[in-house]
Amino acid sequence: MKQKIFIKTFGCQMNEYDSNRIFDIVKKIGYYKTDNYYDANCYVLNTCHIRDKAKEKVYHEIGRVKKVFRLKKKPLVIVTGCVAQAENQEMLRREPFIDIVIGPQSYHEINDKILNYVEKKEKTEITEFDADTKFDYLSKIKNNSGKASSFLTIQEGCDKFCHFCVVPYTRGPEFSRPFQQIIDEAKFLADNGAKEIFLLGQNVNAYKSGEYRLSNLILEIEKFSNVKRLRFTTSHPKDMTNDLVDIYKHSKKLMPLVHLPVQSGSNKILNLMNRQHSISEYLKIFYKLKKINPKIEFSSDFIIGYPGEEEKDFEETLDLIKKVKFINSYSFIFSPRPGTVAANLKQVKREVSIERLLKIQNQLFENQIIMNKSLENKSLNVLVENLTKDKRQVFGRTEFMTPVIFDGNKEDIGKILNVKIKRSNRSTLFGEIISKSNQKVA
Ligand code: SAM
Ligand code: SF4
Ligand code: F3S
Repeated sequence: MKQKIFIKTFGCQMNEYDSNRIFDIVKKIGYYKTDNYYDANCYVLNTCHIRDKAKEKVYHEIGRVKKVFRLKKKPLVIVTGCVAQAENQEMLRREPFIDIVIGPQSYHEINDKILNYVEKKEKTEITEFDADTKFDYLSKIKNNSGKASSFLTIQEGCDKFCHFCVVPYTRGPEFSRPFQQIIDEAKFLADNGAKEIFLLGQNVNAYKSGEYRLSNLILEIEKFSNVKRLRFTTSHPKDMTNDLVDIYKHSKKLMPLVHLPVQSGSNKILNLMNRQHSISEYLKIFYKLKKINPKIEFSSDFIIGYPGEEEKDFEETLDLIKKVKFINSYSFIFSPRPGTVAANLKQVKREVSIERLLKIQNQLFENQIIMNKSLENKSLNVLVENLTKDKRQVFGRTEFMTPVIFDGNKEDIGKILNVKIKRSNRSTLFGEIISKSNQKVA
């Protein structure tokens, strides 16, 4: 009998990469992916711990699944990801419906844990930080992403310990995969239909393996002729070294959108956050890149209402947004994370943070609307990623990652098409194909 596995993924792109790799691993012991969890023999929840009541959300989700399976045979229930790492054994104690708990650096052991459970009904928890063994194991298993735009994790973990962030605790210390291991995985993805490769890491631009840096990886991967576009995320301003800035002069395939989280426009707050850079250093990177290619645009992450944020600090964040004109950004109210330095600091009043968040988002949205409006009647290169949900149109992305929807069919998936933009809203462009032969990139 076919064993079916369902994975629900929360969190960042790295968690998405991990979920895909878990599918690749469990295939070896006879599991097949299902998109319908009601059908599943194995239910995996790949969790995120970055904000809010992450832990409670996981127990809530498990409670929901429990109800659905009340009258059916219980699936094997596995919790993976950053909440699994943070909570470890406590999850098995608190929720008997959970059978296995696996941290983000240990999921290469999932098959052993499943087989062990099937044989002995023994519940287990594994949360070692062993990125080296994990990637060594993963490099021997094909990455079956099969997507036009494929994720490729090159770096994990973090040594920076920003005072608000759980990542150093949930993903462990900074680790860079060996250069050749990444090139081999990129080649496999390119040979199997990937037109865009998205290099991932919690600190992707801190990548360092021997003398190789992210800039070397970019130049090497773009030699694969099937790869038309390259992107990387998430970067820290401190690691935006000259070799990486200069790569925008030399690379032919690196897309002109730089996602560089700044968190706040105030030096005082950056200092309190332990971000280890100033606003003038951030702007220096911005101006250097704009000089190399004025077409380059920035996106960012912002934390609003960090402990100690006063009106003046907040105004400085607004000023920075006006200056840089970020075309797309994530902004969230500060969420105290257990175990981090900022967890016990005096909080900004909730109403004040909400009011500031709305103001920030209005400013960010205005930038987005202006940018998207300016693209109307222009023709853009769009990499087609998939059909839309109703399967009547296709969905792709511009060089700046903006979603574009237009009439097309599944033969268009994986092509870079020239699309004329007819209309836009804040988040999406709507257009029509001009020519199917134009495969030009950036
Ligand atoms: N390494 C990246 C950097 O240095 O900017 C960020 C990676 S983190 C996974 C993604 C984003 O989550 C951060 O940029 C930050 O804006 C947000 N974040 C992290 N901890 C947070 C917290 N406690 N409250 C609100 N947002 C948070
Ligand atoms: Fe978190 Fe990024 Fe800071 Fe590391 S550098 S602690 S991942 S915000
Ligand atoms: Fe969330 Fe872990 Fe990613 S906390 S954002 S899934 S690194």
